[in-house]
Amino acid sequence: TGEEPLISDPTTRENLLKAAKLLASTSETVAFPTETVYGLGGSSLNDEAVRNIYKAKNRPSDNPLISHVSSIKQIDEVIYGVTHDAANPLKNIPKNYHPLINKLWPGPLTILLPIKLNTLDKNVRKEAKLSKLTTGNQKTFAVRLPSNNVARALIHFANTPVAAPSANTSTKPSPTSAKHVYFDLKDKTSIILDGGDCSIGVESTVIDCVTDADKILLLRPGGFTKEDVEKIVDREVVVECVLKKENESVRTPGMKYKHYAPSCKVVLFSPDKKDINAVLKEMQLRIDIEREYIEANKKHTDEKSNTGLKIGVLGYKYLKDLEIGVLKLEEKDRILIKSLGDDLKQMQKNIFKELRELDDVEHIDLLFIEGVDEENEGLAIMNRLSKSAGSDIVKF
Ligand code: TXA
Ligand code: MG
Repeated sequence: TGEEPLISDPTTRENLLKAAKLLASTSETVAFPTETVYGLGGSSLNDEAVRNIYKAKNRPSDNPLISHVSSIKQIDEVIYGVTHDAANPLKNIPKNYHPLINKLWPGPLTILLPIKLNTLDKNVRKEAKLSKLTTGNQKTFAVRLPSNNVARALIHFANTPVAAPSANTSTKPSPTSAKHVYFDLKDKTSIILDGGDCSIGVESTVIDCVTDADKILLLRPGGFTKEDVEKIVDREVVVECVLKKENESVRTPGMKYKHYAPSCKVVLFSPDKKDINAVLKEMQLRIDIEREYIEANKKHTDEKSNTGLKIGVLGYKYLKDLEIGVLKLEEKDRILIKSLGDDLKQMQKNIFKELRELDDVEHIDLLFIEGVDEENEGLAIMNRLSKSAGSDIVKF
């Protein structure tokens, strides 16, 4: 995977070269498509570029970033600064990762590597040349080789590892099209490369095989499922991305921040409906509370006109066929019911897009979402949805 990616369209090539030059020789940022979500990139070797990423996103800087590479050779030569052995390309990568890399790279898999590389030659101790701001003072750094052609070409031409979190304002749902990036960051990044809709729609799966040499830890469920990973490594993968339970105090810094959250109120229902009447009763209760809250806030702003309540429903199996006739709504209320797709892969692809469209475009006040079982893609989907709903998760 070291060769130059094929970009035949001359305009695309020109734009890519321009963006790559910016990454290689300035501290400006470039937003670009990947197969998971759009990223906001800057050179991982350049402190000022990394600072600019945090600034544009308004992201707290204690959350480390993923460095994106276009080949394994770049990890050796550009990150560690050692010669790459083409006959033994994974020589400098811990063995537990080898089957995963062979099967899943390029693709939505992020791995953690040690900052200090112990080479066989005892006199050579190489340390990753990454900006300390990308690693958040950890002993490891996160790296991924994306499969999206535009991303690969951009990194290849820049020949620098590219630090890139999702290209959205911090706390908002991640962007899966250039339009979403433009909405959040139009005057905050130098270039936005438009590569169409992201094919996967949630971020990469983060795997850690170095913190505990005996375990394979799943730190973030993502584009590859836990089941995908287990099939390849043929052993158990330990999920370490435990969500904050209700009333539980915050233990790690990352947990104190709102994430994937639209500005409207989000209520997430458990997948098992048991009794649709109980679901409808709960919806009615939430509608009434939200109406009261909005009316109370209007009095403050002297906004007297009654515009009704805008309600969104994102359904998968049962909520998409909702009989809205049974809800007591007011004349000016509007209710928008959308299906998240026919299977979990489609749901995964649509979830951020629908969250954004209902929020940024439709400006809804209250959103009900149907949850799914935490199996296969369901684990990553529920990880994101639980964070957007905060504590508003209704189980039946
Ligand atoms: O799909 C993706 O991974 C996207 C696209 C743009 O490639 N990028 C992305 O980056 O989601 P970001 O910064 O939003 O997520 C980085 C994740 C976070 O969960 C962070 O805590 C974890 O990787 N991470 C990064 N470095 C780490 C480290 N040294 N130890 C533990 N976790 C780390
Ligand atoms: Mg993000």
